[in-house]
Amino acid sequence: MAEREIIIAGLPSPLIDLVAGARPNFVKLAPVARALAAHRGLATRIVHTGQHYDAAMNDVFFTELGIPAPDVHLDVGSAPHGAQTGRILERYEGHLLGSPPAACVVFGDVNSTIGCALAAVKVGVPVVHVEAGLRSFDRTMPEEINRLLTDAIADLLLVSEDSGLENLRREGIPDGKVRLVGNVMIDTLQQMLPAARAQGTATRLGLAPRYGLVTLHRPSNVDEPAVLRELVDLLHALATEMPLVFPVHPRTRRAAEASGIGERLAEGRTPLVCVGPLPYLDTLSLLSGAAVVLTDSGGLQEETSALGVPCLTLRETTERPVTTRLGTSRLVGNDSGRIRAAFRDVLAGAWNAGQPIPLWDGRAGERVAHEIASWLGRRSSP
Ligand code: UD1
Repeated sequence: MAEREIIIAGLPSPLIDLVAGARPNFVKLAPVARALAAHRGLATRIVHTGQHYDAAMNDVFFTELGIPAPDVHLDVGSAPHGAQTGRILERYEGHLLGSPPAACVVFGDVNSTIGCALAAVKVGVPVVHVEAGLRSFDRTMPEEINRLLTDAIADLLLVSEDSGLENLRREGIPDGKVRLVGNVMIDTLQQMLPAARAQGTATRLGLAPRYGLVTLHRPSNVDEPAVLRELVDLLHALATEMPLVFPVHPRTRRAAEASGIGERLAEGRTPLVCVGPLPYLDTLSLLSGAAVVLTDSGGLQEETSALGVPCLTLRETTERPVTTRLGTSRLVGNDSGRIRAAFRDVLAGAWNAGQPIPLWDGRAGERVAHEIASWLGRRSSP
């Protein structure tokens, strides 16, 4: 950190802030940080908002993914959405005023993304949005609001799939600001897959060779007690047909306890094997060997598509339509009957095998770095 700051203080190269706050951000930041580090003439500074802070949600990702320790930590922690986003905005602004970078790069759609993007534009620091243009068209999702607002104020919009190009055009974003670069999350997946497979996580957890993986944390599935109860009952029932492993997100754990069904997600039982949040390598290890995934995560829809693993997406909409068009994801909502029918389709082998998705090739981080470098070059030339 000291060395990077000495380089920055000497100002030989434009300084770029890379902002992360929540688990999926770390997975996206890693390949971009690496590719930017390989570009001579650019310096980076990692800004961690502290949106995720538990060791299992945070530190382990930095270690496994080889991300340098953050240069700046905003320590915002958990709070209701407005308070959390407000804290991020205020604390990052204070930091920007003290030491403004040439650009601020934000990832994905979490509160840290919009909080830092807004702080940056308000002090005149241009914003780069990695994973721009995705739209679920469901404005009840906090992430959809974060995506819309971040794209409206970003200066360079780097898109992971072609639906993003159409969405941004429809919203009046000039084509000149937009580039299709592919999916940086798949860079991390490809790089880490051999190490993940070597973890043998399924064996360590005592799973049968044919098992499924479950993740759930979206408000639409976990915040309403009746919905969560029905889903947990269903998971227990499906697990009798094929064992299921369920790393329970802290938000889901809290919601289950508040709904009086905490013991239904107790650790150490079978055939629904509940565990705490898992590190990246264990998650990827389980994903790569799974016969099916049931999830409401955006990242897992993409990762299953890249791996060719059938994915039941427990949502009515997706901001990642390429995963249902070319990939292996099917939208099944949170209705038990639909989920059970889709699960049986997987057991019967009646599932789309998926096709390669353009530019999800492990080189998106390099393209992001190239686009940022040439954009900064154009901005600084008279
Ligand atoms: C956030 C993102 C979501 C992303 C998810 C990945 C927003 C709006 N949502 O949701 O898009 O898919 O991260 O995990 O930014 N908590 C802990 N320890 C932690 C962090 C959180 O216990 O380290 C608990 C707290 O009770 C907190 C709750 O989880 O209130 C939710 O955390 P928060 O960061 O607000 O949102 P996520 O549900 O994790």
